[in-house]
Amino acid sequence: MPPYTDRLLSLPEYPLAKIPEQKRELIARGVDVIDLGAGDADLSPPPAVIDRISAAVRIPTMSRYGFALGLMEYREAVVRFMKRRFGQDFHPIKEIVPLIGSKEGISHLAFAYLNKGDYSIVPEPGYNAYLGGTLLAEGIPYKYPLRPDNGFLVDLDEIPSDVLQKTKVLYLNYPNNPTSAVAPKDYLEDVVRRCKELDILLVYDNAYSELAYDGYVPPSIFEIPGARDVAIEFHSMSKTYNMTGGAAAGRAERRNSLALWRR
Ligand SMILES: Cc1ncc(COP(=O)(O)O)c(C=O)c1O
Repeated sequence: MPPYTDRLLSLPEYPLAKIPEQKRELIARGVDVIDLGAGDADLSPPPAVIDRISAAVRIPTMSRYGFALGLMEYREAVVRFMKRRFGQDFHPIKEIVPLIGSKEGISHLAFAYLNKGDYSIVPEPGYNAYLGGTLLAEGIPYKYPLRPDNGFLVDLDEIPSDVLQKTKVLYLNYPNNPTSAVAPKDYLEDVVRRCKELDILLVYDNAYSELAYDGYVPPSIFEIPGARDVAIEFHSMSKTYNMTGGAAAGRAERRNSLALWRR
């Protein structure tokens, strides 16, 4: 067997892969375990979804390749969600991408925006796909420690300027997993302005946009003026609807990706 690539070997161990094994061992030893591992919903998807999917498996076209388009009705549903929830308009074909889960998009995005040696800013602790995507794309993750003293926010002014100059991607996730911090509007305005100045793509992971308490309503990054110039936003079904699936929204790409493909 040939050896693994350096890319694969650059990945750190995935803690969530080890936790089930450790859990089994502890339970076998009689320990009363509270599982704070993978945030996988333990509730069922909405009954209407189960009914619809059960019926859909009998529709012949449902087992065909979706190609990049996927199901048009899904794109349109995402457009309606972005409008209803955040007041933002998107074009279903040019500005929405259906995903099997937001992780799919978040981890693959690095291949589109990081050349070998480019930096991404990866908040720590944070969702592993930011790190994994960057490493597999041969980018360099700049791990930014989230701290309680600054509200678990990423302060770009604390990052060395030689790193910022080579940074192509900033991953942000608010409401944040695992700290549960939220980002004030003036902070997001500042980040959008800085990303524009520095020509950094802001990857706004909004997986928890629908899980908020005490009257707080998480925004979309696109509610911030200028965000369309610098940001892509990811949404997840697994957190909101207890089922896999997701989507990304962002400004239509000026370059035609099919033209790039044919080059
Ligand atoms: C912060 C964050 N982003 C994204 C995801 C990925 O969610 P999914 O791929 O299920 O849409 C998760 C899952 O735990 C997460 O915690």
